[in-house]
Amino acid sequence: PKPVLDIFPSSPIAPVSPLIFSGFLEHLGRCIYGGILPASPSSFPYTSRNPCPKDHFVETPKELLTPEGFRKDVLEVLRDELAVPLIRWPGGNYVSSYRWEDGIGPLERRKRRPELAWGGEESNQFGTDEFIAWCRVAEIEPYIVVNMGTGTLEEALHWIEYCNGTGDTYYADLRRRNTGRDEPHNVKYWGLGNEVWGEWQVGQQTAVEYAAKARQWAHAIRLVDPSIKLVGCGESGPTDWDDVVLDRLVDKVDLHSIHLYTGFGPRDRSQTDREYGRTVYGPDAAEYSIEICKGLINKARLSKAISKPIKIAFDEYGVWDETVGTPQNGLEQFYTLADALAMASWLNVFVRQADVVEIACVAQSVNVISPLIVSPTNLFRQTIYWPLYLFSRYMRGGVSVRIALSSPTYSGETLPQWISAIRGPPADLDVSAVVYTSESGARSLRIAMVNRSEHRSYQVPVRVAFEDSVGSETRQVQVHELWHQDIKAHNGWGREREVSVKTRTAPWSGTWTFREHSFTLLVLTLD
Ligand code: AHR
Repeated sequence: PKPVLDIFPSSPIAPVSPLIFSGFLEHLGRCIYGGILPASPSSFPYTSRNPCPKDHFVETPKELLTPEGFRKDVLEVLRDELAVPLIRWPGGNYVSSYRWEDGIGPLERRKRRPELAWGGEESNQFGTDEFIAWCRVAEIEPYIVVNMGTGTLEEALHWIEYCNGTGDTYYADLRRRNTGRDEPHNVKYWGLGNEVWGEWQVGQQTAVEYAAKARQWAHAIRLVDPSIKLVGCGESGPTDWDDVVLDRLVDKVDLHSIHLYTGFGPRDRSQTDREYGRTVYGPDAAEYSIEICKGLINKARLSKAISKPIKIAFDEYGVWDETVGTPQNGLEQFYTLADALAMASWLNVFVRQADVVEIACVAQSVNVISPLIVSPTNLFRQTIYWPLYLFSRYMRGGVSVRIALSSPTYSGETLPQWISAIRGPPADLDVSAVVYTSESGARSLRIAMVNRSEHRSYQVPVRVAFEDSVGSETRQVQVHELWHQDIKAHNGWGREREVSVKTRTAPWSGTWTFREHSFTLLVLTLD
């Protein structure tokens, strides 16, 4: 079909949750030790599986650190540029053998432990109080996952008392002694375990076992602090695990977590090239997952007569080619323009599914499969940073509205096949739209369009239903475009801006040409 985009500003889906711009920090590779704290030979868990990067033993100068000892540059990008609202910590797979009490108290007395999820050793120089201190400086809401692998319920209850207790009790007092302040950490979001379904997980369980255990934990946790929001451990959304866990746990949680990554490696592992189609169209799988998961949530709510909405915490998502970002290199992956298009499609999915997705955490926030890579003294923004930046800046605060798009489709191979079989072939054009109302009441329409076609540009008539003055009297549009002639182009040391956004104002005629393999965000005034 010929491409045409219809937008219905008077038909809202839901306000975009600000928490879809959240992040994730795991004790893995150079995420914490290197990205949050400067890496030092004594605190980075180098092993032969996780070797030391060449320049890594250069000390990060003091002036690049906050008074608390955190890297300023990373903190400033996350706070001031991406405005990350919430961060999940400490894992990930890491949490399933994490002993939180190893990470509190005087640094020199903290125990080094074997790290079971990724190999190497954990120095515990960054623990609960450091995480909360970092969140305070970064103006970020903490989200902590409890250890449901080797951990006990009693340990989890103590952790919550340590963070949120206000009484004259042992762990609340211990926190006061350790931090020198009376006020609690006030951690509102708590996750009940990580990927407990996975065979790689320390303490894997069946869905039935997990749900029974999580019910008990949820009950007890709420006795310690009834005000917290609990996130149940889902799988990828549409699976039997999700179904069984939701069915048995829905009345005990506020959110159901799901995880999915796209950016699959070549199917033939002897090849080095990733397949364009599988990378760029991959996020369609996430939309399918969310749609099915929403059905499972509502099915479970119905059977238990739960009127409270239960939302999805997509608390790990992103572009990850496991043949490139491996445990040996601390999951560090240099991203291409194609990966950035996938990232833009990921964010489109969350905006379109605004009625059910409350939290989305990009995995991860620094160094590890991340939009940011650091050296001891510097930082660069990867290609995938730019969609995050534009969505955070322009789609946040908006109300997602209904759209109808007719688009040519892609006939090459995408993943997973079964999704194409059910949903039909993926569309080349992928779009979401929000209406944003400023404090003064001025409305604007923000359209995020990914042209996923590798070679074809598309001229698209944009029809905005029941609005007379799109683009205002001056008939202008603000254009933010991410494009490069080479879909494999990437940023790196010495080429920090090879792929970056160009912004301009252009005349608006009601039609826009979206370049091949590009991401474009258009801002149009409505009144
Ligand atoms: O983000 C990397 C890993 O991916 C996380 O530790 C785990 O939860 C997921 O499988």
